[in-house]
Formats: sequence, C-alpha cells, structure tokens
Amino acid sequence: MKVLKHWVLAFVMATAPLGAPMAVLANPAAPADNATYADVTPQYILVNGDLRTGVSLSGPWHWSLDPYRDGLYDFHGKPHDPTKGRAMDISVADAMAKNPNALFEHDIHRAPVTQVPGSWIGYDPETRHYDGLMWYLKTFDAPARSGKRVFLRFGAADYRADVYLNGRKVGSHEGGFTPFSFEVTDILRDKDNNLIVAVDSKRSADTVPPTITDWETYGGITRDVRLVITPQTFVDDDFIRLTKDGRFAVDVALEGAGKAGTAVEVAIPALKLTLKGTTDAHGRVSLSAAAPKSLKRWSPDTPVLYDVTVKAGDDTVSDRIGFRTIEVRGADILLNGEPIYLRGISLHEEEFGTSPQRIITQSAARALLGEIKYGLNGNYVRLSHYPHSEVMTRMADEMGLLVWSEVPVYWTVKFDSPTVLKAAQRMQAENILRDRNRASIIIWSIGNETPISDARNSFYTAMAQHARAIDGTRLVSAALLSHRQIVDGRIDITIDDPIVSELDVLAVNTYNGWYGNDKIEDVPNTVWHSASGKPLLLSEFGADAQYGHFDADHHSRFSEDYQVDFYNGTLAMADKIPFLRGMSPWILKDFRSPRRQTTWQEGWNRKGLVSETGQRKRAFFVLSEYYRKKAAEH
Ligand code: GCU
Repeated sequence: MKVLKHWVLAFVMATAPLGAPMAVLANPAAPADNATYADVTPQYILVNGDLRTGVSLSGPWHWSLDPYRDGLYDFHGKPHDPTKGRAMDISVADAMAKNPNALFEHDIHRAPVTQVPGSWIGYDPETRHYDGLMWYLKTFDAPARSGKRVFLRFGAADYRADVYLNGRKVGSHEGGFTPFSFEVTDILRDKDNNLIVAVDSKRSADTVPPTITDWETYGGITRDVRLVITPQTFVDDDFIRLTKDGRFAVDVALEGAGKAGTAVEVAIPALKLTLKGTTDAHGRVSLSAAAPKSLKRWSPDTPVLYDVTVKAGDDTVSDRIGFRTIEVRGADILLNGEPIYLRGISLHEEEFGTSPQRIITQSAARALLGEIKYGLNGNYVRLSHYPHSEVMTRMADEMGLLVWSEVPVYWTVKFDSPTVLKAAQRMQAENILRDRNRASIIIWSIGNETPISDARNSFYTAMAQHARAIDGTRLVSAALLSHRQIVDGRIDITIDDPIVSELDVLAVNTYNGWYGNDKIEDVPNTVWHSASGKPLLLSEFGADAQYGHFDADHHSRFSEDYQVDFYNGTLAMADKIPFLRGMSPWILKDFRSPRRQTTWQEGWNRKGLVSETGQRKRAFFVLSEYYRKKAAEH
C-alpha cells in the first residue's frame, strides 16, 4: 500500500466523556507524501506484526554456507536463477530420485540444523568469523487460512536477504536491523512449503553501516520469523498518541480491496473512550478526542500502559500503549510538560553471556534494562547504533525507560550516493513505522560520529526531514563529534557542527582522557560552548577496563582504577555544562568488537560498566551514586 498524501477528511464520530470537544484532524503524522518518500516506505507496514494473529516459523532451520555465492552466480560470475538451484522447490534427494544422473553440489534439505533466530557466528566454531552468504531452509505446513491473506514477516536479517517460497522469489531486503514483510497468500500451499532465505552479511562502502564498525557482525536471521494472517482488508498502520494540547490523535491506514468507506473504531476501554470514523478513498482516517482527566500519563516513574484496540471491518489489532508528550523548550527537554534530566547509558544488542549470539528474549531485555533502571538508577537508554529488537522497545515501555533509537548511519557512510541515502531512509521508515506507538522512544537519531562534509550535511538534513515527515511528535538528534582546542591551558569544546540547526537535541561523544592526549585530571575543567541554545546530551564517554584488573599504584589504562578516575573526571566536567540535560555513557556491558585485540580486550570492547557476564566494575557504582543524587535533585 503506497500512501497517498491528500486526505479526504473522513466522517468522524468519537464517544468521549460528555462535553469533551471532538475535532477533525489535519493529519500531521501521515507517512510522508507519496511522491517524496514512496520508494523508501515499506509496501506492507503490518503494524504490531510481532503480535498479530499468525504462527511463528522460528525454531529449527537448515543452513548451508556459500562463500563464493555459487547459488547466485556461475563460475564466470554471471548471475543465475537460484530457483533452478539452491532455492528450487524440491529437495536434492527427490530431484535425484527423478533424475539419478543429475549432479548437485548442494543439498540444503540434508544440511546441518540450527535455531532461528540467531547468528551463524554462534552455530559452529567454523562459522565464528564467517562473513558472507548463507542459505537457510525451513519446511512447514501452512496453518488454516481460508479467505485470509498471509504475510511472511522477518523481525530482521543481517544484512541483505533474498527470500524464496516454493521455488518462487517473493522479495529482497537490505538492512540488518529492521522488519520486512512479503505477501505469500497465493504461493503458500497446505503441506511441505519450502521457505529458502539467502542471507548475505557482507557490507561494503555502499551499505549502511559501511564495512568498518566497532561492533561484531552477527550475520543471519537474527529475529523472529512469522506467518501473519489477516482478513482481506486489514489495519496496516496505526499511530496513536497524545498531542501537546492534551488530545488523543489517531491515524489509521487500511490495506485491501475494502479499505475505502470502512468503519473504524479505536477503543481505550480503561478510559471509557472510543473514537469512531470512516476511511476515505485511500483507506485512511484521522481521529481525535480530548484526553479524559483520568488519563495517567506514561513516564519512567509511572510507566502506565493502556490496552488499545483498532477495529476495522473483519480486522482487530491490539496493543499496549503509553501516552506522554515530549518536547524541547530552550535548553530544556520536557516530558509531559516538565523538565527532565536523562540519566542513561548506551547499550549494544547483546544479551549477557559469552556465547556469540544476539537473541533478545523478554528475559534478556528485562535483565539488561533492569540493570540500568534498578542498578544504575537510570531513566534512559541509548539503543546504539541500530534499531534494536521490538522486544527491547516494548520492554522499555513496560519497565519505564526513555529510549534513544538510532539508524546505523555510522562513521564513513557514502554520503554522496543517492542510493545509499534511500537505503538509510528505508531503514529509518521501517524503524519509525515499527515503533512509533512506543511511549518510551523520545529521540530518533539519524547517525553517529560522521565526518562533516557538504554531502554529509545534505544527507543528514534529508534524514532529519524524513524522520519528522513520518513522526512529527518526537525529537531528532545525532551523536556528533565536537571541535576541541586548548584555551588558556584548558580543554575547550565548541559544538559548531553545521547540522545543529536540523536537530532538536544536541548530542556529543566525548572521550577526553581516553582517546587523545588529555590527562584525566584536565577533564573536569573542560569548558563547553554552544550558540544554539538547545539542550545537550553526552551521547558517549567511557574508558576500557577489564573486570577485576586493578592497579592501585599507577591507575594504568585498562584497570578499573583508571575507569573510576575517568568517570569521576567526566562527571565533574558534566556538572559544569549549563545546557547539559542528560547522558548515555559508553556503555553498560562489555561487547564484542573485532577491532579490540589487546590482552585485556581479546575481541571485546571493555568500556562496559559491567563485564559481558554481568559483573559490575567499580565505576558502575560511581555512576549509580551520581544518578541516585541526580534523581533526588529532579
Ligand atoms: C565511538 C563509537 C562507538 C565505539 C566507541 C569506542 O565513539 O561511537 O561505536 O564503540 O567510540 O571507541 O569504544
């Protein structure tokens, strides 16, 4: 369903407590107009696709390596049709039975089996550092589905995925961290479906992120795979939020032949509120109603979620949604109209433990976010540097943690490439459309530590405008580098990145005292300058320390003593920045990075405040105490 901008204002009926004014909304948050963003908007949004009626296809899948991409190209590099080879709709055994003389040099139906979701770096010592093409096979019988439509939904596959069902290509996707769906209604059969997925983790100068990052590449089908079953006409998208003027605003978009002129009901039973309307010719309706006085607004201290249902025709979509407002006023960030300080930490998508896996279950998410909220006295988490699983963002809603959500425009993306911009915007659209009903998310980040250039500035500007076009209710930011010099013997930092004008909140990664030659003792006297008058977040700062390694005499690098000094110095600096409104130090947990190979690191970035298995380092308590005091102040 390609969205159309020009709404025919639908007939609106809302039942709300007596006397509550009703309004017909100009639709601020309709996905951006078709022309501009048509080719970066997913064909099917399938809002709440992770919870909708359907069946999970996760579990045992066959896997088969293809380092030379034989399944896609012949020995002269000429593309060939995988549906005649690795993605054919028959097992090699059956094909051989039909033609005993046939030669096959792959046999995925008899290949090793692994669990999906998961990354192949954890399957087998042989694939620990594999970076390339992998074929997956899932055979399954279809669920009952008469008269329904069926979609294949992937939570994520890193990096590029080509999907085949029963010998037919159903689609491709680029980007390792966002959901994608294909309709398979007409391809599915009752028995023995052959679902084959080619996942290629290989990145390049043209990918987002590019080849080099400071995190491990977890190639594979890394999140849940589901068959989502819908009526012929269904709720493809809904955006339900509280506006700054204390009203509920709702946009619903239907997909299917019967999308026009269909009655829509959005109910919040706990508030005795039902909004009713009828879709326009494009299957869209915008509804609004005053929020009743009984509404309990969502906040980290009171993470109240309401059951909300959207009914349209034969379809019903349910969700648990919190209602809050977020905005900037001068140098303040206001949550529900009140200034807030973001007591945060950064996090990579890796559960506690040493197995090279990236499977975020509810318990893994609860453990990580619990360490932030209850261990560090935090109220905020930067989910870096890519969209984390919806399990994590839903858990943040439930537990009460504010979230910075980011797309992997990281370091040296090819900013002068329109194709790369489209790929980044597609990831942004998939991320925002997946999560814009999550109350916890307050900031959409458009990137991290990218070198300033005209091409980069236009790229970022396009990303900021796109984010606002899809969701004008949240703040836009980016993790910037800053302009550092020595003035009168003191470290002097100016935030003068040309992209500042496009951002609602400034954010700077600062590592003085770890990278560069500054001594830790010079850090507290650092002076920060920003002419923008906007709020600042320290989006990163940190120092590596191996858990249990102490050096009381010299406080040498990689010792916990050094890390404590670094935190004390940086927090003292932070206290002197008048426009600072929060921070997300780098990082909660030691994480895998192939770039880190000292004896202290052994393939881990050790800037965590806890080790990979959850052991708290001394600096953990420095930050926890700092946040306890901060919380008491606010
Ligand atoms: C950078 C970067 C992180 C990296 C960190 C580090 O700022 O954003 O991805 O891991 O610094 O050097 O540890």
